Amino acid sequence: MRIYREKDYDAMSRHAAAILAAEVIHRPDCVLGLATGSSPEGMYRYLADWNQKKFLSFREVRSVNLDEYKGLAPDHNQSYRYFMQDRFFNHIDILPENTRVPDGLAADAAAECAAYDAHIRALGGIDLQLLGIGRNGHIGFNEPSGDYVKGTHIVDLAPSTIEANARFFATPDDVPRQAFTMGIGCILSARKILLVASGADKAEAVYQAVCGPVAPHCPGAILQLHSNVVIVGDEAALGKLTAAGVSVCG
Ligand code: GLP
Repeated sequence: MRIYREKDYDAMSRHAAAILAAEVIHRPDCVLGLATGSSPEGMYRYLADWNQKKFLSFREVRSVNLDEYKGLAPDHNQSYRYFMQDRFFNHIDILPENTRVPDGLAADAAAECAAYDAHIRALGGIDLQLLGIGRNGHIGFNEPSGDYVKGTHIVDLAPSTIEANARFFATPDDVPRQAFTMGIGCILSARKILLVASGADKAEAVYQAVCGPVAPHCPGAILQLHSNVVIVGDEAALGKLTAAGVSVCG
């Protein structure tokens, strides 16, 4: 695991964008596992800018997103499909048919999960999986629990996740209670993983992901078992790690 510390959110975003851009330049038809949330937003802005400047192209890239709220339509302004279109896909040359996000309105949720996993397999797996991390250590929407779930599945969102995400909705009651998420098995199957984290409220989760016991009560800690993980964080998010003397670059 390599950990890079950047001064602030903007520097973290630029560094993470450079890592993702390197993957795309090296392998133009790569399969990217993408994530939503505030953490990768700045990174997407850099990538869109570089795409518009023709430094790299997403023309052959295929993407699969980590998760989606159950019950939200793709055009709902808090759905993750909407987020991806609005923050990234509409600003780059990726082909719409090459992007996939779980269908929050799927009538048969179990069939949607199975189809999602089959799609990832048909793509040949994920080359680079981007992750944020929840304050409670969740990755995708794999919440702290007693078990790891391998494939794409439906989860009940933790109260702390509903509370954290309520800032994007009119009221906390509007936050969906369930979501589709890739499972831990899908995430670990990615050939490379890039985790971005920003802000002091992520410091404990990042610390536990890197140094804590590998157990499903902290889903992010499973990344310790993957052989190719890069974490790019700002000083605040890496604060507990550096205070504990864990060696980081930068
Ligand atoms: C959300 C998403 C995750 C994301 C995390 C952190 O609930 N399901 O994929 O990584 O929580 O979000 P943020 O980056 O906004 O803090």
